[in-house]
Amino acid sequence: MTFQLAHTRLSHTAMQTPRSGIRDVFDEAGKIADVISLAIGEPSDTASDVVAQAGENAIEIGDTHYTDVLGSDDFREVAADYERMARDLVYDPKTEVCAVPGATYGLFLSMRVLLDPGDEVIVCTPAFPAYDAQVLLCGAKPVHVQLKPEHQMHYAAQDIEAAITPRTRAIVINSPGNPTGAVTSYDELAQIAQVCVAHNLWAISDEVYHPFVYDSSIRVAPSIAAVPGMHDRTVVVESMSKSFGMTGWRIGYLLAPQDFIERASEIAESLHSSVNTPALRAATQALLHPQQDIAARREGSFEKRSLVLHALQGSQMLKPMKPEGALYVLVDISATGLSDVEFSSRLLHESHVAVVPGEAFSDTTQRFVRVSYAGDGESIAEGVSRMSEFADNMSRTSYVAR
Ligand SMILES: Cc1ncc(COP(=O)(O)O)c(C=O)c1O
Repeated sequence: MTFQLAHTRLSHTAMQTPRSGIRDVFDEAGKIADVISLAIGEPSDTASDVVAQAGENAIEIGDTHYTDVLGSDDFREVAADYERMARDLVYDPKTEVCAVPGATYGLFLSMRVLLDPGDEVIVCTPAFPAYDAQVLLCGAKPVHVQLKPEHQMHYAAQDIEAAITPRTRAIVINSPGNPTGAVTSYDELAQIAQVCVAHNLWAISDEVYHPFVYDSSIRVAPSIAAVPGMHDRTVVVESMSKSFGMTGWRIGYLLAPQDFIERASEIAESLHSSVNTPALRAATQALLHPQQDIAARREGSFEKRSLVLHALQGSQMLKPMKPEGALYVLVDISATGLSDVEFSSRLLHESHVAVVPGEAFSDTTQRFVRVSYAGDGESIAEGVSRMSEFADNMSRTSYVAR
């Protein structure tokens, strides 16, 4: 017997939500054997033993019940302590911290708290693709402002201000940035803060890469939440994924003023109830003694960044933009004569290396592909060397053809 599903349809919102171009590459690469993936920000070093043990222990002793919707008291305390010690951000653990199942979810929850249909959100591009999708899922509109290479892809208050309309509710900030690797300075953030105050806007500040800065004069990336006057109009979105190698544990947290956290907890009650308890215990352990773990990860990433830059140094075809932070390098591939999509597709099928085409991050970055150096050094070295060879071969082939 066959069933006819008459008059059923999926929502317009579901049908119109853009798919992440990063996932496309991830899925395509999965179909090919022996691929070296430089496509996603997946740290090769997973959670440290003591952190993983805390999660395992929770499972073993049956500490697997629901927790408070905001996360346990001790998690919120260690998260607030960490932010105060590492970054001078002061939040009350009882009322201004909320555990979330990863930053991606935390970003969406934040948008649900702040946005109504028809509102506008400024998204500076190229950007992490989830921002646009999430704004659209809230019935709101992403308004793009281009980050400029001549400004090192830093966020620029003037450009942001020019895009503000009476419907603008919030600005998404991501520094250190994915995919640019740009680290917006405290002074630049202070200028953006002035714009937020003048136009009564929220800042949704995605700071998942804050420990990954490579200028030895700064310890961590500055936060707009630290600018006087911004505490009450900023949501800081944090994650354990990159800082502690816990991508699959799905755990992070939000820092925000009390009224925001109260609303977030009401909404979260109906969306996820509480985070995964073993992940929460592991994250608590990670944040209790964070320094060594984070310092080692930053050092490792610094070395891997050097490895990529060094390998591409002499290339006539590939021009990397030197990143100041995060785990990615944007590489200008325009000299190859291929579009970003052609380049990444051919590189994947011919040389078995996965990178993400620039168009996944904005329609103005088609000259670039994004190379992630989050993985292990050996694979990165081999992947970048194959990419370089692929591009050099292209120059030889086009020379012969001419
Ligand atoms: C800028 C940015 N924000 C958020 C995330 C996702 O973090 P999480 O794993 O906590 O959802 C990523 C992942 O790559 C990212 O690049």
